[in-house]
Parts: sequence; structure tokens; C-alpha cells
Amino acid sequence: MGKITAAITGVQGYVPEYRLTNEELETMVDTTDEWIVTRTGIKERRILKGEGKGSSVMGIEAVKGLLEKTQTDPEEVELIICATVTPDMTFPATANIIGDGVGAKKAFSFDIGAACSGFLYALATGASFIESGKYKKVVVVGADKMSGIVDYTDRTTCVLFGDGAGAVMLEPTENGVGILDTILRTDGSGIDYLRMKAGGSRYPPSIETVTNKEHYIYQDGSTVFKFAVTNMADVSAEIMEKNNLSGDDVRWLVPHQANKRIIDATARRMGVGDDKVMMNIVRYGNTTAATIPLLLWDYEEQLAKGDNIVLAAFGGGFTWGSIYVKWAYNYNGKVE
Ligand code: UT7
Repeated sequence: MGKITAAITGVQGYVPEYRLTNEELETMVDTTDEWIVTRTGIKERRILKGEGKGSSVMGIEAVKGLLEKTQTDPEEVELIICATVTPDMTFPATANIIGDGVGAKKAFSFDIGAACSGFLYALATGASFIESGKYKKVVVVGADKMSGIVDYTDRTTCVLFGDGAGAVMLEPTENGVGILDTILRTDGSGIDYLRMKAGGSRYPPSIETVTNKEHYIYQDGSTVFKFAVTNMADVSAEIMEKNNLSGDDVRWLVPHQANKRIIDATARRMGVGDDKVMMNIVRYGNTTAATIPLLLWDYEEQLAKGDNIVLAAFGGGFTWGSIYVKWAYNYNGKVE
């Protein structure tokens, strides 16, 4: 018997219909399409409209599609992990709401909050449950309704973020494919540079916190940029070295979509050409925990069994990491 690893056996995404374009943002804050495109690479982002709709609405759509596509009975799902920093509520967990929404009556579920690295943290956690040998079907979701915590009068953040969700199915394999290595890191001193200050136990909601706009994202963009460029590139180079992968061996880099300049720097450091870099920032902006599964969904048809893929992310916390995946199936092909 070979070693049990967790194979990704299906992927599905969901983005809401409404497109918030750079042109519309020009009418809301003092910005230009030219500034946004050259500084970030973003043209438009999707926004979930409608009262009483949280991240779970998008997570449910993604997971429903995933179960259909992988022909999985909802009651076969044993665990749902949702990465999000925009949970529907502080508690219960958004993963529980998603599980209820898709009819996963036999699953247990919990959320992981690691901002833009959330999907990597959740994927590594889900993979460990599979590798233990105890679980056979784990769903990992990244879902964020960033529009719920963005201040649309702050030009330094409102142009960056969008809403979306993506989900993958993890199942055991002994064929040497799947999640082969993970490197995850945290530096809690990052709290000063990227955070939503109020609404938790330290500063519970009050008239004062609302007046001071402390329920919105605060980001010191240029400081975060410097940390992101260095750490995302370093951790990606580290996982390649650890697994004896050269730039030529890597078929796809799947980088978190915060800024095209950070992505380009990571790809250069890894020696990976532009044609091997998954990118959707132009259409979706930064969807936080959803960016990586949305990329896998967008590029699923181009992925082939045996492809070496490096996932990489950096985000609030600070959190960052990279994951080495050997893709498990051809599109419309048989998953072994
Ligand atoms: O996903 C989680 C992790 N987050 C990241 O990885 C984001 C990392 N940071 C970034 O991507 C970039 O720092 C930003 C895109 C947020 C900003 O780009 P930048 O090149 O670092 O710009 P900056 O913050 O240094 O600002 C440069 C100028 C400032 O004006 P002054 O002070 O030089 O007069 C800003 O006020 O650009 C101004 N500015 C804008 N101008 C037009 C900031 N936002 C805008 C805007 N439109 N939307």
C-alpha cells in the first residue's frame, strides 16, 4: 500500500452577476481606470447585491455545483471547511450554513480565518483529515463577500476587492497525486497593517466604532505590498527547492490575486513564464479566500493529470504559504 494523499477530485466556483467596473468606481471616488489598471491589474469585480445575503449564499452555490459535478450525494460529505474573513455572522460558522444549504446532513464543519491565505490553510487542514485515513470526502470552500467590509468612500481599498466563492472536493488516493507538500506561515505582528479593527471582542460594535468607520478594512498598502512580494516569492521558491522542482517542472503557478505586480514578482523568482501563471484579477479583483479555488475553476479545462502546480498566497495576519499539488485528473476524464 502506498502513502495516502488527498487528491483534488473536482472544483467549482461561483461569482455574483453584478460587475463593478473601474468606470463606475471613477464616479464614486477620486480614482481613474488608468491608476487601477497600472497599479493593480484590475478592470472589474463582482458584487453580491441584496439584503440579508452573506458569503454562505455564494459558498452554497459553489458547493452545490461541486457535488453535482462530482456526482456526490450530499450525505456522503464528512467534513466541510470554509475559509472566510467575511462570515455571515460571528457565530455560527459559515461552513455550518453552507452544509445545511447543500443538505450535507452527516458532515461536521468549521471555519478558518486566515484572510487571503485562508484557502491554503483550509486545504492543508482538509488534506490532513484525508491523510489520517479516517475521512474519505472533505469539501474545502473559500468564500468572501468583501463588499460587506469595504468602505466605498476609501479609494485606497475599495478598488481592490470583489466577492466570490470556490470549492474543491478532497478524496484519498495512493497514486502519488494530490496535495504533496505544504508550507504555511504566520506573523501576528501584521495586525498593524491590515485588519478590520472593530466588531470583535476587543472593540465590540458601538456608535463610536461605526462613526469612526472601524468596521471596514484598513490596509497600509505599501507596507503590505513589501511583505507580500518578499514572502510569497520566498515561500514559493522554498517549496520548489524542497521538492526538487525547477521552473520547467512547474506547469502552473496559482497565485493569490491581490496585485498583478506581486504575482509577476513571484513568477520571476520561481523562473516560471507568464504562460504558466493563472490569472483572473482583471475580472474579479481580490476575492480573498476565494481567489485560488476560482482560478482552479477558471483553468480546470486546461489542467491535466500529473501537472505540477504550486499554489501561493499572502494576506492579512500576516499569513502566507505555498502548497505543491500534483493534479489528479483530466477534464471530463476519470479520476483515479
Ligand atoms: O490580499 C491581501 C494582501 N494585500 C496585498 O497584497 C495588497 C498589497 N498592496 C498593494 O497591492 C498596493 O500597495 C496598492 C495597490 C494597495 C497601492 O499601490 P501602491 O503603488 O503601493 O500605492 P500607494 O499606496 O503607495 O499610493 C500611491 C499614491 C498615493 O498618493 P500620494 O500619497 O502619492 O499622493 C495614494 O493616495 O496613489 C494614491 N492612491 C490612488 N490614486 C488613485 C491610492 N489609491 C488610489 C486610487 N486611485 N484608487
